[in-house]
Amino acid sequence: MSLLFANWQYLTNSPFSPVLRAGFCLEVSICPTRLNFFEIYFGSKQAGESHTNIRIIFVLIFEFDYIRVLNYNGYAEKIIMSYFEITGGRKLNGEIEVKGAKNAALKAVAAAVLSREKWTITNLPQIEDINRILEMVEDLGAKVKRSEKKVEIEAKNIKKSRLSDKLAGKLRASIILAGPVLARTGKVSMSYPGGCVIGKRPIDLFLAGFQKMGAKVKWQNDHFSLSVKKLKGAKIFFPKITVTGTEAMMITAVLAEGETVLSNAAMEPEIPALAEFLNKCGARISGAGTPTIKIKGVKKIGGGQMKLISDRIETGTFAILGALCGGKVKIKNCNPDHIRALLVNLEKAGAIFEETKNELIVWGAKKINSVNVMTHEYPGFATDLQPPFTLLMTQAKGTSQIHDPIFDGRLMFTDILNSMGANISINDPHRATVHGPTKLRGRKIASPDLRAGITLLLAGLIAKGKTIIENIYQIDRGYERIEERLQKLGAEIKRVSA
Ligand code: EPU
Repeated sequence: MSLLFANWQYLTNSPFSPVLRAGFCLEVSICPTRLNFFEIYFGSKQAGESHTNIRIIFVLIFEFDYIRVLNYNGYAEKIIMSYFEITGGRKLNGEIEVKGAKNAALKAVAAAVLSREKWTITNLPQIEDINRILEMVEDLGAKVKRSEKKVEIEAKNIKKSRLSDKLAGKLRASIILAGPVLARTGKVSMSYPGGCVIGKRPIDLFLAGFQKMGAKVKWQNDHFSLSVKKLKGAKIFFPKITVTGTEAMMITAVLAEGETVLSNAAMEPEIPALAEFLNKCGARISGAGTPTIKIKGVKKIGGGQMKLISDRIETGTFAILGALCGGKVKIKNCNPDHIRALLVNLEKAGAIFEETKNELIVWGAKKINSVNVMTHEYPGFATDLQPPFTLLMTQAKGTSQIHDPIFDGRLMFTDILNSMGANISINDPHRATVHGPTKLRGRKIASPDLRAGITLLLAGLIAKGKTIIENIYQIDRGYERIEERLQKLGAEIKRVSA
């Protein structure tokens, strides 16, 4: 039953669902080596409604070399192209450097659109999500000049107010561009943003915020547009803490008339980092990093150079890697304070580590203890670190309760870990019980989303035998050349082009 549930979630929230949202259509969603679902919908769907029309599901057990899906623009895309081949069981030793934060970079690139002047963003990770958002701002008319770890963005002229459908469908964070484009041009339109398959990803809080600032919202099928004569400051209370929602409203309010107050705002470290840079460019933001952010609107924003903070999720992932596979792994260029909630739990789990201001040394844990964790908004235990921590718990003696209340599809990957030999039961969409320790066996699997993908990669590193991971675009979305960096630690992993 849990398998059926998990796959159902996988499908309805799949990146292919724009096909489905377009109305009378056929969607094909295939997950290699797992149960495969074909869904056919009859009838049409208005934006914001759920599918109530006839639904036929065929469950087939097939394996596919790759997937071709007709997207809503009608062209076929090859989804799976390369794969990782991993031989598990190697002890890892050495140094690994953390890259700039993906989720800081995405928001900084979008915020650059507020300014007519040049923004230089450094410590830029070379990952697929960044490629996509840069393509989006370029498509809008901004000049983008990229070098290895740096990008210059000059959004002097915004020629379009319609965001690329193709790109928006690939990236949840594309919604962050709506505010700056609206502020610059008085209108913006886009299709429903895509992104990780980790549960429902509504945008109601974004739209409510834009409306509070005076924008009119219009829906047409799966596409919405916003228009406004002049954005006005507003009091916005978030009934649910939202990271990108907070950032979107903070960025948009920079060019609004008057004061905006955001209450129950998210406090993730990427938010004060962005506010600090916006202030250097002339914005007047106070309170970022606390639940109340005040933004006094200004007429224009200047240019400058911003160095991105290090990626705390990458830091945490490598810390778990060290506990699972060290040896001795030194994690460089990181901020251990940003993963304090993880470190507290790693300590309970028996991991041994040492930290300085910007380094973390982790030794392989001799014995792993079971620990119960519940994810929470920052400074709590990050939901993005729940999948690798769950993997760690498969190696712990006893049972661990994992509770992830933030997204309703974040435990789906446990099916795949079970297929490798783990013993994890799903109690409901938000809760799992891990029974450990279990020995994992390598096998052929596919990465369903970014954080699940890196977790499966880590699972491959501790599994007996060979693991093949397909759909690695999902891992490349957030981890730069991960195989090369792991090879330097002694991991036996290679990228194979299909
Ligand atoms: N939510 C709503 N309505 C909205 C927006 C959000 O109900 O309009 C709900 C969500 O459904 C969820 C909760 O609010 O239940 C929190 O979602 P949030 O908006 O905070 O998530 P997000 O901003 O879309 C960011 C990161 C995610 C990370 C979450 C939580 C980016 C680009 N993404 O997503 O990162 O998991 O915050 O920390 O910043 C990742 O990097 O792999 C990733 C998924």
